Amino acid sequence: MATGVLPARRPLPARLLRQALRVFNAAATPYGVDRYVELVRPSWSSNEIRAKVVRVERSTPRSVTLTLRPNGNWAGFQAGQYTQLSVEIDGVRHTRCYSMANAAVGPGRLIELSVTAHPEGRVSQHLRQAARMGQTVGLSAAQGAFTLPECEPPRLLLISGGSGITPVMSMLRTRCARDWTNPVTFLHYALREADMLYRDELEALAATAANVRLVRVFTEEPGRGDLDGFLTAAHLEATEPGWAEAEAFVCGPAPLMDSARELFARVGRDDHLHTEAFTLAQFTAEAGNVDGTVRFGASEIGVASDGRPLLIQAEAAGLAPLSGCRMGICHTCTRRLCAGVVRDAVTGDLTNGPDVNIRICVSVPVGDVEIDL
Ligand SMILES: Cc1cc2nc3c(=O)[nH]c(=O)nc-3n(C[C@H](O)[C@H](O)[C@H](O)COP(=O)(O)OP(=O)(O)OC[C@H]3O[C@@H](n4cnc5c(N)ncnc54)[C@H](O)[C@@H]3O)c2cc1C
Ligand code: FES
Repeated sequence: MATGVLPARRPLPARLLRQALRVFNAAATPYGVDRYVELVRPSWSSNEIRAKVVRVERSTPRSVTLTLRPNGNWAGFQAGQYTQLSVEIDGVRHTRCYSMANAAVGPGRLIELSVTAHPEGRVSQHLRQAARMGQTVGLSAAQGAFTLPECEPPRLLLISGGSGITPVMSMLRTRCARDWTNPVTFLHYALREADMLYRDELEALAATAANVRLVRVFTEEPGRGDLDGFLTAAHLEATEPGWAEAEAFVCGPAPLMDSARELFARVGRDDHLHTEAFTLAQFTAEAGNVDGTVRFGASEIGVASDGRPLLIQAEAAGLAPLSGCRMGICHTCTRRLCAGVVRDAVTGDLTNGPDVNIRICVSVPVGDVEIDL
């Protein structure tokens, strides 16, 4: 069983050595001192955040929970935030966002990520199958505005679906670590009971902690959980009669979040609803805008556009551009639009070249385009 609050380990000599390395880094040309130190200790770096995998747990059939010990460049996180994890697969570095699931109790602590494997997913499948203790991964600084408030709300409502449990689990664990006592209700939707991450811990917590209520819904196993079906007003009433007064945090598949938005808007409480999406809403290419050629200028590759975002078209063409969230929030995939027009898949806004920076994960070509890639 993964634990919520994890012990500190950030020895003083390590920090002093890291500062000294920063000073020597410039002198150690052409590679920098990191290239030499990492031969001995891969998680060391004078300026990059790297982490060593110190525990690997596969508690459900489709997930893997990793406990990581970040190096001293990690500055901590707030409950609900995510990091961009980088891992090498067959010699290519891939980056994806994962939300911290443990309590946020200050810098220098261990962190916990729970990754659910998607059937065709490159990174999630790799981590589920191959993550091992002692492995080193790259991290970004913690990011995201989906965070637990600093002051305790009178009522807290946490709603999650599937892998979306991680940021709200961190919020619940942080609430407990801070000894908050106001009521909190945790409503979780999983396909099946066996798929539910943190089930034992949540059930034990709900049985013992004051004012913690757990409601479990297993959408493919009616009758097995506390409620059946998908999120409705009736579910909220049954779960938390004071739901309209609560500060609510929701993370999960798009239909779950759409329902939550509609229900909170209906009672005029949309400003008390906070949401986090793990994926871009399914994009459908607009008829008439699919024609055209995508030219990846730096690679001298040209392909007929299929109407999908440029990141996906580049990957399909055999290129490996940097990416992180793949939904327009982290800016890792930013490249220069050398010529042509693209449409933002989220907002629908058009951007005209030449020479403007675009996020290729959410940019769909409109006619012929050229990208500096
Ligand atoms: C802010 C943020 C926090 C996140 N936190 C977590 C977390 O804590 N735990 C976790 O497991 N994941 C989390 N994710 C999702 C994660 O970043 C990856 O998208 C996911 O692991 C799939 O990556 P992949 O490389 O395996 O799939 P890819 O190879 O990128 O995609 C393969 C296929 O799976 C589909 N797909 C990709 N992601 C999803 C998804 N989330 N749901 C449904 N279909 C998908 C794609 O459309 C594609 O068809 C988070 C994402 C964001 C943006
Ligand atoms: S990959 Fe994050 S903005 Fe494109």
